[in-house]
Amino acid sequence: MRIGILTGGGDCPGLNAAIRAVVLTAELRHGDDLLGFLDGWKGVLEGAYRPLDVPGCRDILPEGGTILGTSRTNPFSVEGGPERVIANLRDFGVEALVTVGGEDTLGVANRLGERGINCVGIPKTIDNDLSGTEVTFGFDTAVQTATEAIDRLRTTAESHHRVIVCEVMGRHVGWIATHAGIAGGAAEILVPEVPFELKQVCEGLRRRHASGQFSSIVVISEGAMPAEGPDAESARFATATTAQDQFGHARLGGIGAWLADEIEKRTGFEARVTILGHIQRGGTPSAFDRVLATRFGVAAVGAVHDGAFGMMVALQAGDIVRVPIADAVAKAKPVDLGLYQGVAGVFLG
Ligand code: F6P
Repeated sequence: MRIGILTGGGDCPGLNAAIRAVVLTAELRHGDDLLGFLDGWKGVLEGAYRPLDVPGCRDILPEGGTILGTSRTNPFSVEGGPERVIANLRDFGVEALVTVGGEDTLGVANRLGERGINCVGIPKTIDNDLSGTEVTFGFDTAVQTATEAIDRLRTTAESHHRVIVCEVMGRHVGWIATHAGIAGGAAEILVPEVPFELKQVCEGLRRRHASGQFSSIVVISEGAMPAEGPDAESARFATATTAQDQFGHARLGGIGAWLADEIEKRTGFEARVTILGHIQRGGTPSAFDRVLATRFGVAAVGAVHDGAFGMMVALQAGDIVRVPIADAVAKAKPVDLGLYQGVAGVFLG
């Protein structure tokens, strides 16, 4: 059988582990041959690929990034895009396509599935916002990276008696902020799911500093915003951008700088901001992400050979299961409020 594979959307640690698992399982267990499309859907659209085999995947397990490259290309936003994708897959003799991605990449797989393309999905994203799976690979490594950064920020914040705002990724959801904030002992954790009151944030910091703590770490997701009102307007103005990708997502970043400024103005505490940005997406995957990506890769090839097209492999209660891609991309998975309010909330403010 000829299987294609692509990695799309933002990269994350563990992609190479997933590619390796797919290639080794497909070739060694089933005698399949594999085409790796370059730069996500762009490669399928343009017919750009490289053959993949076992020797070519020998040393890639611990490597960050993706040997196939990635992009945010959306064939559905290109004139004649879906037709070209379908024709190329047919011409290359690709019988099944393993798509490794988040909501956007898998959303395309879902729509192509409706047009008869045999896709199986593997969930990845540092944001951990895909429904249907408890965890996506990449998330654990990103949380570890953010936690290490917070640990470092804490010592300099303490030395200077400062508030340091640490902006982490998370466009629609606050999974990274919540986990790294808990792990790093943040004084405040602000997430997109729960619009914040700046007044309350400042009061919490004043209380904390009055009780003998002379420094604080505030962790904020890039997509977090104040509750509607003048603060939200001011934050929107400060972070406004016109840059958008082909899926219509605005380029985020800047809320942390706005927040640090406001905290300093309103409390008089010296404040600084650190935006972790793409540092969270780079580097070698954690052991957890390597294992999860490997389990997903093996299971995806199993799904291909069972003819379970339109399905995504997922982690539920420790087991690898299959869920419809359509369900996984239907809506983002918000942060667990039990964790955010019930656990993190105990230690905040
Ligand atoms: O992949 C998800 C993500 O890391 C988001 O957290 C972030 O908003 C976005 O990608 C950044 O995308 P880009 O790499 O295109 O700037």
